Amino acid sequence: MHRILSGIQPTGVPHLGNYLGAIKNWVALQATHECLFCVVDLHAITQPHDPKTLASSTRELAAALIACGIDPQKHVLFNQSAVHAHVRLAWIFICVARMGWLNRMTQFKDKAGKDRENVSVGLFTYPALMAADILVYHATRVPVGDDQKQHIELANDIRDKFNHDFETDFFPAVEAQIIGPAARVMSLRDGAKKMSKSDASDQSRINLTDDAETIAAKIRRAKTDPEPLPSELQGLDGRPEARNLVGIYAALDDIEPSQVVRQFAGQGFGNFKSALADLTVAKLAPIAAETRRLLADPGHVDAVLREGAARAAAIADPIVAEAERLVGFLKP
Ligand code: AMP
Ligand code: TRP
Repeated sequence: MHRILSGIQPTGVPHLGNYLGAIKNWVALQATHECLFCVVDLHAITQPHDPKTLASSTRELAAALIACGIDPQKHVLFNQSAVHAHVRLAWIFICVARMGWLNRMTQFKDKAGKDRENVSVGLFTYPALMAADILVYHATRVPVGDDQKQHIELANDIRDKFNHDFETDFFPAVEAQIIGPAARVMSLRDGAKKMSKSDASDQSRINLTDDAETIAAKIRRAKTDPEPLPSELQGLDGRPEARNLVGIYAALDDIEPSQVVRQFAGQGFGNFKSALADLTVAKLAPIAAETRRLLADPGHVDAVLREGAARAAAIADPIVAEAERLVGFLKP
């Protein structure tokens, strides 16, 4: 059986893109797979962060994941910095990965922007740590949004080179699982940009903590075009904003985008947006309420993470120890 691992950064509040592109699929995969879910706080310090809020953001994100339906009893939920095997394997992978490979990573180019000389070295080596997150558990399936595809390919490149250089087949191949009609949720303000925690405009995204009124207002103001909704999906070609809202509706309602257009064919965006707002509120309000309830007892959330880290370490420690042996370290 395939073991699943995925991660999410505790920077800012999780948004609808995180939910539909990743978390919702994680919840579903729990029924059929052994899963590990990791709040990647080591990745969160690759860019400037506030040390006063990192711990609370980590806890809040863990609570939100549980509220979304992650089951920390049946599966493993933990924060990355609590399991030291990640950094041990990351160092080895940093030495296996080639500069040229990392130089090609589009997420690095996006995040570094024009100021490459001034970003942290950690931002550059970020994908090698991500490869370690996965392979330190011998996980073979990684459910992520579309934007992480290139990082998973890199994880396989690192895996291949490690296995080749150390004459082993120790690390398995990994496969990205990019699932559903909202694997790439776009900004509500610009159909060419993905919905992101780092967008300066809060109007561009729906946060899992937004209240009903805020959600409705953001959807009402979302950019669209003057045409009514088409009856066939091809009618959305060249209409990225309209396509995005239809994808969001389909993913939230667990139906196909083609069913959505059939249902709203010929109607203007006024009607469709108000139905979308109702649907979004109906799906997100219980998550926000449950997150708040869990955070009323922060000690409980911390205990869940501590327990998860111990179970994660029990899997990862022997794997990283074997990787270190293959590399040739003396174990005195
Ligand atoms: P991050 O917030 O960058 O740590 O991302 C956590 C997960 O959410 C990853 O699997 C991403 O691929 C996914 N994700 C982030 N933004 C989006 C988006 N706009 N649409 C779909 N998935 C996304
Ligand atoms: N890089 C991922 C993102 O920004 C987060 C991440 C870190 C991750 N480690 C991972 C995702 C391991 C999947 C598996 O979305």
